[in-house]
Amino acid sequence: MKHEAAPLSEEAFGPFKRLLENEAGFAVNAAFFSNTLRARMREHGFEKAQAYYAFLTTGSSGKEELKALIEQLTVGETSFFRYQAQWDVLRDVLLPELIRERRLGERSLRCWSAGCCSGEEAYSIAMTVLETLPQVEKWDVRILGTDINNDYLRKAEAGLYSERSVRSVPPDWRQKYFNQVEGRYAVCDAVKRFVRFEQYNLAQDSPADSRVSDVDVLFCRNVTIYFTLESTKRLMEQFAGRLHPGGYLFLGHAETLWQISDRFEPVEFPQTVIYRRMHDGTSPMPEPLLSPRPFLELPQAPLPAKAPDQHVLLFQAWELANQGAYTQAIPLLLKVLEEDNLSDEAYHLLGTLYCRIDQSEKALEAFKRALYVDPINPLAYMNMGSIYRYQRRLKEAERAFKNVLKILDKRAPESRVPFAEDMSCASLRAACVQQLQVLQAGVER
Ligand SMILES: C[S@@+](CC[C@H](N)C(=O)[O-])C[C@H]1O[C@@H](n2cnc3c(N)ncnc32)[C@H](O)[C@@H]1O
Repeated sequence: MKHEAAPLSEEAFGPFKRLLENEAGFAVNAAFFSNTLRARMREHGFEKAQAYYAFLTTGSSGKEELKALIEQLTVGETSFFRYQAQWDVLRDVLLPELIRERRLGERSLRCWSAGCCSGEEAYSIAMTVLETLPQVEKWDVRILGTDINNDYLRKAEAGLYSERSVRSVPPDWRQKYFNQVEGRYAVCDAVKRFVRFEQYNLAQDSPADSRVSDVDVLFCRNVTIYFTLESTKRLMEQFAGRLHPGGYLFLGHAETLWQISDRFEPVEFPQTVIYRRMHDGTSPMPEPLLSPRPFLELPQAPLPAKAPDQHVLLFQAWELANQGAYTQAIPLLLKVLEEDNLSDEAYHLLGTLYCRIDQSEKALEAFKRALYVDPINPLAYMNMGSIYRYQRRLKEAERAFKNVLKILDKRAPESRVPFAEDMSCASLRAACVQQLQVLQAGVER
């Protein structure tokens, strides 16, 4: 992508920043979004930012343009069964528990995928429910997918996906729940009939909206990483009102309610944390010191070519890691590194696995070594920042997060983060900015 010479000045950008926060909850930053703004200004024949701002805030065509600008600023990264550990918890623990509770009374189940993008998350919920719920036809199951971006919602309704989107769907589920249409995967009607998609702006709460009340299971993942802290706090208050007491909230890996809301209690599972809406009148539980989690899900990326033995060992380590066999994967990685101490993918995976088994010092060491090999790897710094934060080494955490931003400043927003095949530099940046905001607001001190 071609970059404009200078970003808008903070002064010129200030009104847009406030407008975008109020309208959509977004935390935007002048340097990052100036190109988008300038392109839209050019398209509509505006030379001055103030004139474009006045257009956006008056009249119906300005309103349409504001909608289009907001849609352009959304980041649409998603896939089926993203963050496998959360789906395991939903299928093996939470849904069976809800089904046991409800089976003799009102047999209803309400799920909401808030910020559903092109629908993969909502359909993943539907497939998980179908797998878990015996006699689904005797239940009133409703799954709602909502998003601010209408283009994404049209794609969601069409339910047609690429091989890449469905790569984490187990082969037998692919057979059962999709039809192959000209090399693409079409979600079948047996799944679609439980799912509805509608536009809904999470930053504009209308408490009377009955589409989203009494929710049992709410997914809102990788949405608030683009929000300001204040918008996130307001959204969590909204969610607390919309969830059934005892209902569950799933957030993305980089998102937390720590110091954001006390209406939920964290429930820790081996590889993930889910939040439970507390019953009114219950006093909030202190948040446990959560184990350090690597910032990202283990990617399921095939490895780049290596010397044959190394390649096999690394591949086996990835396979074991993806099955959750962390302690078995680690010796394989150490063996790889004995032969080739410059294998940055081995260091990355090793660091991630040490995090998973709560060995944060060893994880830090592995990420530092990854940085010896590639000193400008933003993911290594991001993971180090998360570990330091967990260890309450706040100055070091801040330094690590700032290094992430420094590196990302030189990368195109849409380019991919190495070793995180699904993540763009824009998403990593947003997650990092939010971590820094929390640290700098001193909320953890
Ligand atoms: C990165 S995607 C996450 C998709 C999915 N939840 C996941 O984790 O795979 C973020 C989504 O949030 C939506 N979004 C952003 N701001 C929103 C708002 N104010 N209201 C509703 N949706 C919003 C975007 O349009 C985008 O589809």
